Amino acid sequence: MLMFVKVVACYSLFAVVFVESVYVKDLLKENFETYDKYERPNYGERVNVTITAFIADADLVKETYDYLYMDMNLYFRESWNDPRLQFVTWIREDDLLGGEEVIKEIWKPDTFFPNTLSVRTNKEPNPEVFVRINRNGDVLLNRKLTASVKCQQELKAFPCDTQTCLLEIESYGSNMNSIAYTGKSVYFSSLLRIPHFEVKGASFEDKSIHLSTGEYSRSIIKMKLKRKINPKIEKPSFYKLMLDELENTNCTEVE
Ligand SMILES: *[C@@H]1O[C@H](CO)[C@@H](O)[C@H](O)[C@H]1NC(C)=O
Ligand SMILES: *[C@@H]1O[C@H](CO)[C@@H](O)[C@H](O)[C@H]1NC(C)=O
Repeated sequence: MLMFVKVVACYSLFAVVFVESVYVKDLLKENFETYDKYERPNYGERVNVTITAFIADADLVKETYDYLYMDMNLYFRESWNDPRLQFVTWIREDDLLGGEEVIKEIWKPDTFFPNTLSVRTNKEPNPEVFVRINRNGDVLLNRKLTASVKCQQELKAFPCDTQTCLLEIESYGSNMNSIAYTGKSVYFSSLLRIPHFEVKGASFEDKSIHLSTGEYSRSIIKMKLKRKINPKIEKPSFYKLMLDELENTNCTEVE
């Protein structure tokens, strides 16, 4: 029995090493001979992109009366099917993994984030991206992003208020007939701490947006933040003008 386990372990190690060296050069070469990365999979048919996200960290950069400026660190995953990438081989592995060199060879949705001030991916020490291609053509693109968003703030209920921070996801150039997004799941780290706020939840909302160039599919991550300050000790500059109100408010009564 032990022998058997060992053999399997060696075999799969071999397969992984093999995949690394054979992947771009040979395995997908046949696929790529006729592959046009500028053309959508199933040309003419709409590509359905499923999104999942994991918010690892977030930071409140600045707060004004009207806005919360938030930096969000998230693992952003998009998946779709591209039948042109299906492969049949003797390799046991169902999935092939690749980095930037593979990502730049395949078609991808031209996803952008309309309400962000900036979006960054780390390039050093290594680009924080990978793609996984399944033998049935399912593609999973995984990126670690830092998105800076400006969230509209509504202070009617201050200091017992709850704010919602949005991260909007949309295709830059393809309308609803070409690319449709479905937000599947969004989680946040249990270690996530944001100064002055408690993260109450994160969820997805899918919408269709009417623009002058057509109907676009938009997925929105909504992060709910409940203010959590102790008026007796914390007096951030933003609150100075509201001090009287702060001193006399007990948010526990409002909940
Ligand atoms: C995408 O979803 C639509 C609506 O559910 C469906 O008609 C279409 O065939 C799907 N596209 C692909 C490539 O599966
Ligand atoms: C706020 O109200 C709750 C419930 O009425 C009470 O238990 C708590 O002690 C109050 N806190 C302060 C700081 O007054």
